Amino acid sequence: MKLILLGPPGAGKGTQAKMLTERFDIPQVSTGDILRAAVKEGTPMGVKAKSFMDAGGLVPDEVVVGIVHERLQKDDCVKGFILDGFPRTVPQADALKQTLAALDKNLDKVLSLEVDTEALIGRLTGRRTCRECGRGFHVTFDVPEVEGKCDSCAGELVQRDDDQEETIRKRLEVYGQQTMPLVDYYRGEGLLATVDGMLDIDVVQAEILSALRAS
Ligand code: AP5
Ligand code: MG
Ligand code: ZN
Repeated sequence: MKLILLGPPGAGKGTQAKMLTERFDIPQVSTGDILRAAVKEGTPMGVKAKSFMDAGGLVPDEVVVGIVHERLQKDDCVKGFILDGFPRTVPQADALKQTLAALDKNLDKVLSLEVDTEALIGRLTGRRTCRECGRGFHVTFDVPEVEGKCDSCAGELVQRDDDQEETIRKRLEVYGQQTMPLVDYYRGEGLLATVDGMLDIDVVQAEILSALRAS
């Protein structure tokens, strides 16, 4: 299964990707997670990416295209993968097409998660993320068993640097300008399925599975 999860910041891409990973035993490829790991390690790429991320903007296409190109060649992607947060611009989508053609692979589906703007802001300001494994929680919608600790690894839950309201609004604006055109792009390729991302987490997952069965 080769999937793209498309949707604005806070739509639930990471949440749903983690659930799909367990179900299908294929990896989640999140450019945001890979970039945050590079920032944490202080690699040259991380140092370069940090200023774009903190400002709520996009990291240059050539950087993320290179990351994904390399990642999709790894053995664990043979059965499939879930792209989360990539592609985010038309040039990234075109580059992905080339990478997949070279690997003789085709996308099965592009799932677009649709959520109202005000709901997105509430989700992102209330999000807490595990410092160790990156799993996401929410102070109201996805409460951890022990406050401040990750259910998976007991790591400390922290707020992401870019989850401040001003940065969130900037990220949403960037999504509207640069990423939204991909909805039509993939509709044109006959790959798009839209999913109501306003529903509860488990219901969204069920909707995704039913969209995948329909394909
Ligand atoms: P990235 O990490 O991809 O962030 P994003 O796209 O802004 O998306 P989020 O991770 O914030 O949201 P999500 O959809 O994963 O939601 P989640 O499941 O966590 O990118 C970060 C930055 O990296 C970018 O701004 C950019 O600078 C850079 N970058 C990354 N990829 C790039 C690329 N391809 N090109 C260039 N730059 C790139 O859910 C959010 C919260 O809501 C959680 O608390 C969750 O518990 C809760 N929640 C989830 N689902 C539901 C539900 N159904 N009901 C209620 N609550 C819910
Ligand atoms: Mg995410
Ligand atoms: Zn954890």
